Amino acid sequence: MMKKFRNNELKVAVVGASGLVGGELLHLLEKRGFPVEELKCFNTGRKIKKVKFKKKYLTCRPLSFAELINSKLVFFASTDEVSAKYAPKLATAGIWCIDDSSKFRMEKKVPLVIPEINADRISQKTRLISGPNCTTTAAALALWQIHRKFGTKELRFATYQSISGAGRGAIAQFEKEMKEYLKKGKISYRKNKYFSHPIAMNLFPQVGDFTNGATREEIKMNLELKKIWDAPYIKISSTCVRVPVLRVHSIAAWIQTEKKWHIEELKKVFQKTEGIKFSDREYSTPLMSQKRELTYVNRLQKSHINEREFKVWISMDNLYKGAALNSVQIAEYLLKKRYLD
Ligand SMILES: NC(=O)c1ccc[n+]([C@@H]2O[C@H](COP(=O)([O-])OP(=O)(O)OC[C@H]3O[C@@H](n4cnc5c(N)ncnc54)[C@H](OP(=O)(O)O)[C@@H]3O)[C@@H](O)[C@H]2O)c1
Repeated sequence: MMKKFRNNELKVAVVGASGLVGGELLHLLEKRGFPVEELKCFNTGRKIKKVKFKKKYLTCRPLSFAELINSKLVFFASTDEVSAKYAPKLATAGIWCIDDSSKFRMEKKVPLVIPEINADRISQKTRLISGPNCTTTAAALALWQIHRKFGTKELRFATYQSISGAGRGAIAQFEKEMKEYLKKGKISYRKNKYFSHPIAMNLFPQVGDFTNGATREEIKMNLELKKIWDAPYIKISSTCVRVPVLRVHSIAAWIQTEKKWHIEELKKVFQKTEGIKFSDREYSTPLMSQKRELTYVNRLQKSHINEREFKVWISMDNLYKGAALNSVQIAEYLLKKRYLD
């Protein structure tokens, strides 16, 4: 079989390999034929955990700076604290770091990258690269070409965010609550670090902690989207909701543009946007969209409130394009530019 990538095989490390995003990173690196010579997997080391890569089982090890610094490329998929402790030092030492945590996303010197939109922010000097929050990625990617062609004035989002967005432990919490509900017909909520209400048979307008009435997710959507599009003037208003869906975030989006459009023109732009699949016949659901690399856009309609406003429905796998796939695509861009030689 012909090799997809011509580069030499690389020493790669995945921090958080035993987590949800880490697991998908390994899967996608293998599936997309990323040239890995040696893979090192790290986690807390609290329990022995094995992960599978190219038919081999690897044991995750506790983090060690000495081991990380021997890598060419490090994927961070663990916590803000871990990224803060290791990524800047490694980047200064010349190691390429792709970070899925939120730690550096809003730092001026750190590019916040969705390759289909702004890979050009990456240079030989930017050794630390952030991937955006998963909901932001869905909205930014889906609406990017519309923004380029018609300009964006205002954006409104209502999100329907899956449990896996809060990590592996949140899924375990959901399963425990579901079992209790099916056995006893009720859920006795106990305080936990994932959610402030039961998530089984429920939903709530809270994703992350509150600051002045807005949740962390709502603030991230606002700030990160403006940074990615380099459009600080856009007005953005979101309500982010956690729903009892295992995987895939959905968004109802209202877009008010600067320029006039005809609905057929919007369709054409969506049909040509890289990374999305537009349909004017069928709508997307989480089950249909999971483990898919594309972002689904449908239910395009005029809003009937403002003549320059339309609305769409967006579905995106938060663990794929919302995290792991985006990071792998950043790494592929580094390969293409020969930054990893
Ligand atoms: N889930 C999503 O949809 C999504 C989307 C975008 C970005 N992200 C970001 O991606 C990162 C990972 O999220 P996730 O959903 O995969 O979380 P997760 O399922 O909870 O996995 C966390 C991983 O990090 C490891 N870890 C935690 N603390 C560590 C420490 N002190 N030292 C070393 N390893 C440590 C865990 O190891 P153990 O197995 O030993 O516990 C596990 O492998 C987070 O920063 C998150 O904000 C997630």
